[in-house]
Parts: sequence; structure tokens; C-alpha cells
Amino acid sequence: MDNRYQCILVTGGAGFIGSNFIRYVFENTGFEGKIVNIDKLTYAGNLENLADINEKYSDRYVFEWVDICDYDRVEDIFKRYSPDAVVHFAAESHVDRSIHGPKDFINTNVNGTFNLIEAARKFWQNRFEYTRFHHISTDEVYGSLGDTGYFYETTPYDPRSPYSASKAASDHLVMSYYHTYGLNVVITNCSNNYGPYQFPEKLIPLMILNMLDEKPLPVYGDGKNIRDWLYVEDHCSGIWAVLNRGKTGEKYNIGGENEWHNIDLVNKLCEIVAEKLGKPKDYFKRLITFVQDRPGHDRRYAINCDKIKNELGWRQSVTFEEGLNITVEWYLNNKKWVQNIKTGKYLEWLEINYKKR
Ligand code: NAD
Ligand code: TYD
Repeated sequence: MDNRYQCILVTGGAGFIGSNFIRYVFENTGFEGKIVNIDKLTYAGNLENLADINEKYSDRYVFEWVDICDYDRVEDIFKRYSPDAVVHFAAESHVDRSIHGPKDFINTNVNGTFNLIEAARKFWQNRFEYTRFHHISTDEVYGSLGDTGYFYETTPYDPRSPYSASKAASDHLVMSYYHTYGLNVVITNCSNNYGPYQFPEKLIPLMILNMLDEKPLPVYGDGKNIRDWLYVEDHCSGIWAVLNRGKTGEKYNIGGENEWHNIDLVNKLCEIVAEKLGKPKDYFKRLITFVQDRPGHDRRYAINCDKIKNELGWRQSVTFEEGLNITVEWYLNNKKWVQNIKTGKYLEWLEINYKKR
């Protein structure tokens, strides 16, 4: 059993993957230590994602409302909790938002990562052997593929959106701390995730919720862009494997080996939602609307993840069919979560629940 850390500092744990990761670690790994979740609670941060964990693991889970761009707050967290591992998810994560307003992406993804890793270096001096900084990154840093080929860990970076450029910059910064200071770092670069708790600005939840409201389903360009989809819990198990057993200073790709044209995926989702709601198979397809393409829209992402499979024995465990079914059902069954996002009520969670402590 992997159980080498006593206190894991998770950044961005109120977001989609971070909250799934915290739940995964407590419920699936036998981890006996503590998790400190620091999050700024931007529009993408939702403490409702962890309401069950907050209750069930109140002695081992702590939330702290922290902006990673505030160095003094970050340093204070290190001093107060003495984490021996950092798993760094916090980021601005949506490509379309990065096109409309890149500044927050540079602030959080670049400067925020700098603050964190600098605080880690200072706090962990001479203890690099027993500590680890795990930076969560994306396959988007590698750029865009044509019809063939894959992203390997050795593929040169070629980011093409402000989002992927800011993630690439942070990856380089993290790796520089390994080469220059010997900080114990690992980086994972993952393909597109989907699953419960994903904010409905990303393709899959946006399509599901638009179907429920009978709104248009906006497909960018010709719908032939390709993404490699991975169920979020499989990403979490990959992160856990690398955090515990990955080699210092190494990068690991994590992917679904599951490539889909956007239009085929949207058609598939239409059929799953229709089936669950007892509608005719093609009922929602009439809502599909081709809209103007995203500027600089990367054509194809496809991950080669042989390294994590061969070195650490990691495997995907959820098929796309299963994962999409679980995900659609989750959005159908969690009407309050959806409603709170639509009305903006989830943003009040902090006021109602956090200030009481
Ligand atoms: P998300 O947008 O759902 O969550 C991001 C979280 O970070 C939110 O809780 C937000 O409040 C927090 N945050 C943002 N700015 C912050 C700041 N300045 N200080 C502290 N917290 C801040 O994102 P996600 O989809 O869960 O992605 C998590 C990480 O995984 C990101 O680093 C992203 O680049 C990476 N990633 C995502 C995917 C994907 O498909 N979603 C794939 C590969 C890698
Ligand atoms: P997205 O979920 O934003 O992830 P990323 O851009 O990081 O891959 O988008 C996935 C794909 O779906 C991408 O090719 C853009 C496309 N897309 C649409 O066609 N319509 C939409 O409304 C959205 C949000 C995305």
C-alpha cells in the first residue's frame, strides 16, 4: 500500500479534478494522513464538491481559503501544516476563457506556481528526499497533432493557446527547480478528463445540461477535432501512483487511449441522455448547432502513456461507455448541485459554511 506521506497539501482541491482526487485518496488508497486543501474559490471552485468529505474526514481534512498568488499566505500554510507533499491542481483551466482574458491564466498558472514551488524549496531545505512536489499538467502543452502520431514525454512543447502556454511555462519552472535546486518534483501531463463535479463550461457537462434545458448544443467548427478522453478517477489513480512511486525529476503522460471526434461524442451523449430519459434515440440530435470555430483550435490530442503503464503498472479501469453512463447519471441525479451552479448559489457556500468556524 502506498502510504508514505503524512500531510498532503492539495491546491485547487475545490475544483473538478482536485475534489475527485481528495475523495479518491481518502476512500480508495488506505492513506492515513492529513490533506490540507487550499483554494481561492474562483467561479470554478465549489466547496459543495467536498461537503461529504468535510463531514466524514473532519479530523484529517482541512480547507483553507488561499489564493496561491499571495506568497505570504502560501508560506504561512507551509509553516502551519508542514506538508511533506504538494499536489498542485490550482489553475485557470478553460481554453475559451484564456482566449477572452489571458491575464488570470498568467497570474495563477505561472506566478501562482512560482509562489508554491518557491515556498516548497524554502520550507523543505535539506529534506528533499522525504518530500515531493507533484505538478498537475496537461497534454495541451505539446500542441496539436495531425491525423497520425502521439504525444510522448519527450515530445517538444508547442503550446498554442494562452492556457496551454501558461501551463507549459509552469511545467518548465517546476522542472528547473529539480535541475537547479534538486527539489523532488514530478509532473503528470494528462488528456481530457470527464466525470462527476466537472464545471459545465467544458464540453461533456455543457452538452448534458443543455440537453436537459433543450438548448442548442454548440459544436465548434466542423466538429472533427479529436480529444483523448479519460475518466477522472483513472486520472486520480495515475496521480497517486506517480506521487508515491514515480521517479524524481520525471514526467509521466496519463491518457485514455480513447480518441473521439467531438461530433461523434456529442451524438453519443445525445443517445445516452435520450435513453435515460425515455426519449427516442435521436431526440436531442436536432439541437446540435455548428458554431464559429475556437481561434487556434488544436486539431487533435492523443497521448502515449506506455511509460506510466510499464514503469508503475497503471491502467485505465473505466471504459468510455461506463464512464459516460456514470457521468450522465450523476448530472441527472444531482439536480441541486446543478441548480446551485446555474443560480450562482454555490458561490455563497463559503459565506454560509466557512465563516462559522
Ligand atoms: P477547475 O477549473 O475545475 O479547478 C481549478 C481549481 O483551482 C478551482 O477550485 C479554483 O478555485 C482553483 N484556483 C484557481 N485559481 C486559484 C488561485 N489563484 N489560488 C488557489 N486556487 C485557485 O480545473 P480542473 O479541470 O479540475 O483542472 C485541475 C488541474 O488539472 C489544472 O491544473 C489543469 O490544468 C489540469 N488538467 C485538467 C484537465 C481537464 O480535462 N480538466 C486535463 C489535464 C490537466
Ligand atoms: P473543452 O472541454 O473546452 O476542453 P479542451 O479545449 O481543453 O480540449 O473542449 C473539448 C473539445 O470540444 C474542444 O475541441 C472544443 C470543443 N467544444 C465544442 O465544440 N463546443 C463547446 O461548447 C465546448 C465547450 C467545447
